[in-house]
Amino acid sequence: MKFSAPRGTADVLPEKTIKWKYLEKIAFKLFEDYGYREIITPTFEQTELFTRSIGESTEIVQKEMYTFLDRKGRSLTLRPEATASVVRAYLERNLANPSFPIKLYYFGPMYRYERPQAGRYREFWQLGVEAIGSSDPLLDAEVVTLLVQYLNLVGLKQVELHLNSMGCKKCRVNFVSALKEYLEPFKGRFCSDCQKRAALNPLRVFDCKEEACLSLLKDVPKIDAFLCDECKKHFSEVQTYLKKIAIPFKINPFLVRGFDYYTKTTFEVRSPFLGAQNALGGGGRYDDLIEELRGNPTPAIGFALGVERVLLALEKENLKLAANLAPFLFLAVMGEKSRLFAFELLYRLRSAEIASETGYNEKSLKAQMKIADRLGARYVFFIGEEELERQTFKVRDMRDGKQFEVPFEDVIQWVKLQMEGEQVVGRS
Ligand code: HAM
Repeated sequence: MKFSAPRGTADVLPEKTIKWKYLEKIAFKLFEDYGYREIITPTFEQTELFTRSIGESTEIVQKEMYTFLDRKGRSLTLRPEATASVVRAYLERNLANPSFPIKLYYFGPMYRYERPQAGRYREFWQLGVEAIGSSDPLLDAEVVTLLVQYLNLVGLKQVELHLNSMGCKKCRVNFVSALKEYLEPFKGRFCSDCQKRAALNPLRVFDCKEEACLSLLKDVPKIDAFLCDECKKHFSEVQTYLKKIAIPFKINPFLVRGFDYYTKTTFEVRSPFLGAQNALGGGGRYDDLIEELRGNPTPAIGFALGVERVLLALEKENLKLAANLAPFLFLAVMGEKSRLFAFELLYRLRSAEIASETGYNEKSLKAQMKIADRLGARYVFFIGEEELERQTFKVRDMRDGKQFEVPFEDVIQWVKLQMEGEQVVGRS
């Protein structure tokens, strides 16, 4: 029997993992500059954590969770997202800090039983942040900025930021009843999913992708007309901050996002190149979630972005990440004495963070040159009896074929200079 990876999952092969590492490295640095620290939570949790947090009426809970019973009959679920897990950890580990929000970031796989297509997988990776403990609109603006700045920093220029306010519990009551009233006459014309959704939580009809349902929402009441004064002020301040640093955004009153936990600010960054799965990342405030999970009332906000989608968008924008899998140096070695010397030199080079290789199983010089070429080595160092005697390497520049010499004692310094000149990245 031939095995294959489960549908909707992928093997991330070396030419891609190096790009992932690059995205990860930039994220970790930027997130840390914004004061976030990494948290690693389990990839599965008690099922009820997700049903309670994400909401019974959502697509994720209704259709997309990988839920199973363990050997003791406990219901567990592979995490479809990490906000619920971070909040669970925040409460369980007493991370609350009364004077300053706690800022956490994560990077890891999430699981959703969705129909796989380009940009949509059953196992996918998210980079995300959660800031728990402040209701300040400055924090909203900062979190949104962090998402946009990150995407720009990795090279994406063409991203669209959509922004909305979902209001608080108070203003939501009026909006939901107006929504119910609007939906009532169309009841029979919505798809069966929407009909179920409308009964449980009318807000969820906005998650439908069916054209027929969307067309029925043409004149639907908009949330902004229902915001209370405090929510209006909050939203307007978020916008003022974003304008101050010239982050362009579009107000999108339909951006309710597929989770029940959102309050006030919601946002999503989209790429014009990704077709139906165009959301690179999104998030929002969830000021009531911590209380719903039996904590003290605590405001919070966060976002997550999809790593696979960021890579797809980079490809579509024709941006090649400077992922370099090739060794910088290849040591072509002749004779046993030279091999021993080369072994020690490789150790020194690699200790100095210089990617280097040599041939295995004694081969002719010609065969070694072929290997160096295939690996894409930037320079080849020749090491034979003559070089050992003269304490000098013969070096070939593999780009232009020119040959020259480098004394043994200068080697590390020489290589570092070349690497700097070429800004070799992909290794730290
Ligand atoms: P989300 O919008 O469900 O939000 O996911 C965030 C990002 O994960 C999406 O924008 C997308 O790039 C990626 N993503 C989602 N589903 C898939 C999939 N099936 N395949 C590939 N990529 C996918 C959340 O998960 C919230 N927890 C974000 C948040 C954090 N809100 C507050 N804090």
